[in-house]
Amino acid sequence: MTSPLGELPVTFVGSFPNPDVPLDPPLPEIAFVGRSNVGKSSLLNALTGQAGLARVSSTPGKTTMVNVYRLPSFYLVDLPGYGYARASQSDRKSYQALLGRYLQRRERLAGVVWLLDLRHQPSTDDLAMQDLLVAGDRATLAVFTKADKFSHAQRKVREHQLAEALGLQDDQVQVVSSRTGLGIAELGTSILSAGEKA
Ligand code: GTP
Ligand code: MG
Repeated sequence: MTSPLGELPVTFVGSFPNPDVPLDPPLPEIAFVGRSNVGKSSLLNALTGQAGLARVSSTPGKTTMVNVYRLPSFYLVDLPGYGYARASQSDRKSYQALLGRYLQRRERLAGVVWLLDLRHQPSTDDLAMQDLLVAGDRATLAVFTKADKFSHAQRKVREHQLAEALGLQDDQVQVVSSRTGLGIAELGTSILSAGEKA
């Protein structure tokens, strides 16, 4: 089963340094946030079925701007990853400010897809992001990435452990692999309904 988003036309709107950028026409926005290298851009490509849409790299910190993609009735927004250890102090500060401002100020932000790597316990930066998300009071879905790194049985154990570490119930999280397509159709359905409900 492919992602329902893969059946819709998608176009790149632009890369913006400013989190307050007005989008024309104004439509609901669904944003992707998560630690650098967690797989945000790969997930966008998997969801839309377009391998080359968002730039993927094994070097963390590739996405440094607000990248916006248009679907017919909403936008998908790929945000810079946080917690990139080798970024300079001033770069880290400016990304944090950008993310904070984006989450607080976007009037049409209908939902946040918050990505965490299934292999790792939440970092200090992940927990700080969770505080920002709670404070921003936006509809948030936690998505655990890179599930292909585990066998089915291991995956269930990790999913439960990570959800518990975040204080979430198992039904508040979705597990995906952009590599194998696991969970991509289900996530596409959730995003579509969040975008259309807004
Ligand atoms: P930044 O733009 O730096 O914040 O990173 P990002 O979160 O956009 O991550 P990106 O999609 O660029 O992927 C980072 C690395 O993880 C790349 O080497 C990807 O190939 C790899 N990756 C992404 N998704 C998956 C997945 O589902 N499984 C596996 N095994 N690797 C993945
Ligand atoms: Mg990226």
